[in-house]
Amino acid sequence: MKERSMYCGQVSKNDVGKTITVNGWVQRNRDHGGLIFIDLRDREGIIQCVIDKEVNPKAFQIAESVRSEYVLEVTGKVQARSVDTINPNIPTGNVEILIEDIVILNEAITPPFPIQDGITTDEMLRLKYRYLDLRRPEMQKRLILRHRVIKFIRDYMDGKGFIEVETPILIKSTPEGARDFLVPSRLYPGTFYALPQSPQQLKQLLMVAGIDRYFQIAKCFRDEDPRADRQPEFTQCDIEMSFVNQEQIFDLVDGLMLGIVENLSDKKVMHTPIPRMTYAEAMDKYGSDKPDIRFGMLFENVTDIAKACDFKVFNSATEVKGICVPGSADYSRKDIDDLTNMAKKYGAKGLATFQLLPDGVKSPITKFLKPEELDAIIQKFNAKTGDLILIVADEPSIVAASLNALRLEMGNRLGLRDDNILAFLWVVDFPMYEWKDNRWDATHHPFTMPREEDLHLLDTDPGKVRAQAFDFVCNGSECASGSIRIHRRDIQNKIFSLMNYKDEEIESRFGHMLKAFEFGAPPHGGIAPGIDRLVMLLCDDDNIRQVIAFPKTATAYDPMTEAPDKVDNAQLQELHIRTVVIDKAE
Ligand code: AMO
Ligand code: AMP
Repeated sequence: MKERSMYCGQVSKNDVGKTITVNGWVQRNRDHGGLIFIDLRDREGIIQCVIDKEVNPKAFQIAESVRSEYVLEVTGKVQARSVDTINPNIPTGNVEILIEDIVILNEAITPPFPIQDGITTDEMLRLKYRYLDLRRPEMQKRLILRHRVIKFIRDYMDGKGFIEVETPILIKSTPEGARDFLVPSRLYPGTFYALPQSPQQLKQLLMVAGIDRYFQIAKCFRDEDPRADRQPEFTQCDIEMSFVNQEQIFDLVDGLMLGIVENLSDKKVMHTPIPRMTYAEAMDKYGSDKPDIRFGMLFENVTDIAKACDFKVFNSATEVKGICVPGSADYSRKDIDDLTNMAKKYGAKGLATFQLLPDGVKSPITKFLKPEELDAIIQKFNAKTGDLILIVADEPSIVAASLNALRLEMGNRLGLRDDNILAFLWVVDFPMYEWKDNRWDATHHPFTMPREEDLHLLDTDPGKVRAQAFDFVCNGSECASGSIRIHRRDIQNKIFSLMNYKDEEIESRFGHMLKAFEFGAPPHGGIAPGIDRLVMLLCDDDNIRQVIAFPKTATAYDPMTEAPDKVDNAQLQELHIRTVVIDKAE
C-alpha cells in the first residue's frame, strides 16, 4: 500500500498541482461515458476523483468496476474545478483529484441502508449494522465531539490538580438505588461480583488513601429499564475531592461545563453565573427537581382560595395549583380534552381550565365559584385576556407531576424550549430521605452528609433533614449529581440503621467503608456528570443511543452481537451454575 498523503476531506486549494494519495470508501460513482467521477469518503469528508478513459485506459478499467462502499486507494494530481463544476455544498467542492492510479483494497456488498446523513431507516436495522451506521458523517461527528468532550475534561481536571485513577469493574455491590449486574465467581462457588453502579465507595476510599483529588472517565452499570436518556451501561466523569465544601465543587463544575460549551459548541448559556435553586423551590414552582428554566409559566398556589370555595374537588384537595399559559385562550374543546388526558396520565383526576376570552371567562367550573373567587384566581396568575389557566387539585406529588408535564408541553408548543440555549442550574438542599416501601431511603445515596444544622432531626423528623446534596441540571435534564460525604463512622452507622439495615448487614456490606472511616478519613465530597447526557445536549439528541458507539436498545438488547445470549453448558459448569428460568408470574 502507498502511504496516504492526507484525508479526503482535507484536500484544499493549497494542494492544487500536488500528486497525492488518498484512501476511503466510494460514496458514489458516475459514469459519463469516457469520464468517470468517484466521490471518495473518509472520516474527514468527501473528495471528487475523476478519470478520463483517453488519458489513462488501464486505471479507467478498474474505475469502471468500482461500486458503492468499495475501499480504494487513489493517487493523482489535485486540480481546481472549473467555475461551473464547483460544488458549494462540500468543503472540498472547489478541487478534485485527477486519477493516475487506482487500487481496489476491498470490495463491498450492498449495504442495508444508504451510508449518508438524514436517513429514515428503522433504528433496529441501524443497530444491527452499527458499524455501517457509524460510517455516516453525522454519526462520526457525534463520536468525534464525544472524544473532544472527554479530552477537554481530562485536560481541565489535570489542570486543576486531579489525577485519574482506574477503579475495578469487578466489585462488591454498591447501593446507588438501581439493580446490580452480577458476575458469577468461578473460584468461589455460589458467590458473585457486582459491576459498579458507580465507583462511589472506591472514590471515597481513595480520599482515605490521601489521593486528595480524583477523577475518572468511568463506566457504570445499572440493571434498570432503559429510557430515552438512560442506558444499562453509561459513562460518568466521576470526581471526588478532600477538604472541600459545596461551593468548591460548584466552582469546579461551573468551569468545566462552561469551558466545554465555550470551546466545543455554538450554544449559548442562558445565565452566568450559573443560578442556584433549592429543591423546595424547584418542587414548589416547577413540580420537578430538574426544572427547565428556559421559560417561566411557574406554578401558582391557589389552595387558600380553593379551600374557601364551594366546589368540592377544590375545597377537599390537599393542594390546588396551576399555570397560566399565555395566548392560548382560544383552545378548542378537543385541545382541552387532550390536555386533560395528559394530566390524567400523571394521576390527576381532572383539569380545571379557565379560558380568558374577550367576551368573558370560559370554564366548566365557573358555576361553582363566586365572582370574587374567580377574580382572585385570575389575579393570582396575573392572567390577562387571551390567557389559559390550567389548575390541578390533588395530592402534592400528583399536582407536581401533572402540572410539570403540562408546563413542559405548553413550553414546547409555544416554542419556548430553544435547543440552542443551555439553561444550567444548580438544584441544592435535597431532602436526605424519602419514605419508600415502608422505610426511609436515601434520596441521593447513603454516603451523603446531612446539613450540620439538620443533624438533630435525624432522631426526631428524618423526612425534614436536608442533605448536602446537589444536582446540576440543564434544560430539564439532570446532568450531574453529587454531595458532601459522611466521613465519620458514627454518623454513617446512624444513617444505615435509620434506613433499617441490620447490624450484620451493615457489617457485611459496608464493613470495609466503616473500618476505613476509623483510620483518619478526611472530610470529602464529589460529583459525577453523566457524559452521555452532556453530549446528547450538545448534539440536540433526545435519544441517548445516538451518542454511544454501540448502545443497547430500549429493552437492553444488542441487535448486532445478539447479547445477552445463552452460554455453553461447559461454561456454566465451570461457574458452578445451573440455570432454571423462573416465570415471574409463578
Ligand atoms: P447518579 O446516580 O445521580 O450519581 O449519577 C450521576 C449522573 O450519571 C448520569 N446517569 C446516567 N446516564 C445514562 N444512563 C443511566 N442509566 C444513568 N444513570 C445516571 C446522569 C446522572 O446525573 N455516585 C453518584 C455521584 C456522586 O455522588 O458523586 C452517582 O452515580 O447524568
Ligand atoms: P366533575 O364534577 O368531576 O365533572 O368536574 C367538573 C370539572 O372540574 C371538570 O371539568 C374539571 O374542569 C374540573 N376538575 C375535576 N377534577 C379536578 C381535579 N382533580 N383538579 C382540577 N380540576 C378538576
